[in-house]
Amino acid sequence: MEILLKPLTDTLGAEIKGLNLQYPIDDGTLHKLKSAFTNHSVLLFRDQHLTPEQQISFSQQFGPLEIHVSKKYLLQGHPEILVLSNEKNSDGSRVSIADGGTGWHSDLSYMERPAMASLLYAVKTPDTPGIAQDTAWSSGYRAYETLPVELKKRVESLKGIHLFDQDQNPRMPPIDTKYRDKHTPALRALTPPKEHPMVRTHPETGRKALYISIRFTIGIAGLPEDEENELLDALFAHQADQGNDYVHQWRTGDLVLWDNRCTNHRALGQISEPPNIRRMHRTTLSGDVPY
Ligand code: OGA
Ligand code: MN
Repeated sequence: MEILLKPLTDTLGAEIKGLNLQYPIDDGTLHKLKSAFTNHSVLLFRDQHLTPEQQISFSQQFGPLEIHVSKKYLLQGHPEILVLSNEKNSDGSRVSIADGGTGWHSDLSYMERPAMASLLYAVKTPDTPGIAQDTAWSSGYRAYETLPVELKKRVESLKGIHLFDQDQNPRMPPIDTKYRDKHTPALRALTPPKEHPMVRTHPETGRKALYISIRFTIGIAGLPEDEENELLDALFAHQADQGNDYVHQWRTGDLVLWDNRCTNHRALGQISEPPNIRRMHRTTLSGDVPY
């Protein structure tokens, strides 16, 4: 199949045109997609019409899928799909969480084997212009490469401590139960703190990326508390200064595939209330232990 690749920014992101993801991708095209993914970290496919089964099949061509540790918002009958939606049930309760979270993060970095990649498919998004519903990505390569030499040297051999429960992260606001649930003791038991190198080597490109995020990284192994906090604050300030490398304004039918090993992302928030519906389906590709 002939595909067309259009870079979205100089740093990361490419739009792929000419593919209907409803059908299996032939080997040659899949090879091209995999190298585009390796080279651009974020791939956008527009104007798709995917059933849950088709999204799962497309995703599985890149590797095995992960079933999210937090079981509450998995799609009925398709546990490989995590639902993000602002829809309400008939009793007024939330169908799910409305977005993936407004703090910078890399999916499942709090697990022993964090997600290699995620695929977010816009089943329905508000057509009203000006309603914030965007998602931003930043490059972990750029974050690492632009660190002052001093800081680069300091973080190179350190490990970050990652934790899922937002209520145990002093840099994040407490969970607002209007939008998300507090973590249960059972979920906390499944997600103890995990240590990962703060500078991660991408297994395919060999490039180094800063692998920390304000949402999930709560500490640094082996450092006294004041040093740990001072260093994390400096690194998060650096990431904040870097800002958004790419902001995606969703349209119904968009699918974005991103590499969690070398990027952070966040929802830009302010998801509107129904009748403006934003419903997204996420599949997640299993990953390796970071090094
Ligand atoms: C995710 C995520 C961002 C958003 O699906 O992992 O963080 O804008 N989504 O909902
Ligand atoms: Mn996410």
